[in-house]
Amino acid sequence: MKVPFVDLQAQYRSIKHEIDEAIAGVIARTSFIGGSYVAQFEEAFASYCKSQYCIGVGNGTDAIYIALRALGIGPGDEVITAANSFIATSEAITMTGSRVVFADVDPMTYNIDTERVSRLITKMTKAIIPVHLYGRPADMPAIESIAAKQGIMILEDAAQRLTDAEQAHSATRHASASIRARTSGLTAMAGQSLPVMKHSRKNVG
Ligand SMILES: Cc1ncc(COP(=O)(O)O)c(C=O)c1O
Repeated sequence: MKVPFVDLQAQYRSIKHEIDEAIAGVIARTSFIGGSYVAQFEEAFASYCKSQYCIGVGNGTDAIYIALRALGIGPGDEVITAANSFIATSEAITMTGSRVVFADVDPMTYNIDTERVSRLITKMTKAIIPVHLYGRPADMPAIESIAAKQGIMILEDAAQRLTDAEQAHSATRHASASIRARTSGLTAMAGQSLPVMKHSRKNVG
């Protein structure tokens, strides 16, 4: 028996009516960019993640870049992230003019090693970007504790972690902002819709 790595057809068949109706509605109203469907999604997804706000953007790199800019990060700043993340994470940091500082990963989880994060903090460190790689959450309690002690912001890269409601709530509870992705290969959902979740008025302009 052949078991496909990702079977988007099976998922589509299970909710075909709903998807066809939604796509037909977008076409009928020619709501191709922004509009009420995006607004509805932003509201529903913010509520799903128990976040104050959600802003839909074009792709994951933009989501990280926009969130970093909103956090006031730029030249002269350092941002610590996981050494094994997808290129988008460090690319977005570089795009702001700030410096990428790679923290190696825990060999048991392949997620950012929080001990190493502590050792990499300097007076230029403005934010930590933990990445929930392959759907596995980074150690957020440890990262939150480091960030709180040092007065550093957290921006979660949750591009590879969208699905589980309960975990989604806890995964984004204390971050200043987080980004989530829907990418066909990653979460078995067709299309791309990259919400930026904004959790705190204080930290995000
Ligand atoms: C960890 C991670 N961050 C961000 C992204 C988003 O990148 P893109 O700009 O390709 O949508 C991805 C997509 O694969 C990812 O895996």
